Amino acid sequence: MNTVLALENVVKEYPLTPPVRALAGVDLTIEAGELLAVVGPSGSGKSTMLHIMGTLDRPTKGDVSVAGYRVSELSDAELSGLRSRHIGFVFQAFYLLTGYSALDNVADGLLYTGVPLDERRARASAALETVGLSHRLDHVATQLSGGERQRVAIARAIVGKPSIVLADEPTGNLDSTTSSGIVELFHELNRAGSTIVVVTHDPEISASLPRIIHLRDGLIESDRVRELSS
Ligand SMILES: Nc1ncnc2c1ncn2[C@@H]1O[C@H](COP(=O)(O)OP(=O)(O)OP(=O)(O)O)[C@@H](O)[C@H]1O
Ligand SMILES: [Mg+2]
Repeated sequence: MNTVLALENVVKEYPLTPPVRALAGVDLTIEAGELLAVVGPSGSGKSTMLHIMGTLDRPTKGDVSVAGYRVSELSDAELSGLRSRHIGFVFQAFYLLTGYSALDNVADGLLYTGVPLDERRARASAALETVGLSHRLDHVATQLSGGERQRVAIARAIVGKPSIVLADEPTGNLDSTTSSGIVELFHELNRAGSTIVVVTHDPEISASLPRIIHLRDGLIESDRVRELSS
């Protein structure tokens, strides 16, 4: 077994008065090549957990390992290096650069990889094609529909062929046909070797994935692995 993500007794408190305990002691191990869903009510800690897995945030307590590195032992600069080499993140709010075209938003996902600009754009164009947006390369973010922006965000996350893809409600703004296309894309990336974690409210999507983690009140309520007939 090759563990790529491990959370040990992870607590996350946001420092308000009184503090908000978003994660209350999460233990979770994910092996290379897994494809899993994280589900749970709004406010149960799904985005917080994904951000911590993606090293975008540090836990208040507990240990996190990503791709074999203990996050607590790395500086912020080392963490951003780790992220650019290993992790593709699809944010719940897409965070596209508003004045930039779809193509440049995706090419931006390769900015810290040392790949030259022409090559970044070529790969961005290919990634946009895989999400069905080759006809929108030059539209800036404000000239795209909500679902198209979401697909640009997905293309940006996968353009570097990351070993770990963390997606927060990646189909929240998509119709069912486009949404099935994105789920199929995740299956393809997974077959090609990526480990994928998808936060979703859509029961059809979670039911189509081999492992489902239920969060409630910042804790794992259940963790089920199933045999899927395919
Ligand atoms: N930056 C923050 N500061 C303070 N509290 C926060 C912050 N971010 C999230 N929270 C709180 O932490 C809890 C968990 O939030 P989180 O965003 O992880 O939930 P979620 O499961 O992703 O919900 P949703 O399904 O609505 O996206 C919530 O009670 C939320 O209000
Ligand atoms: Mg969320």
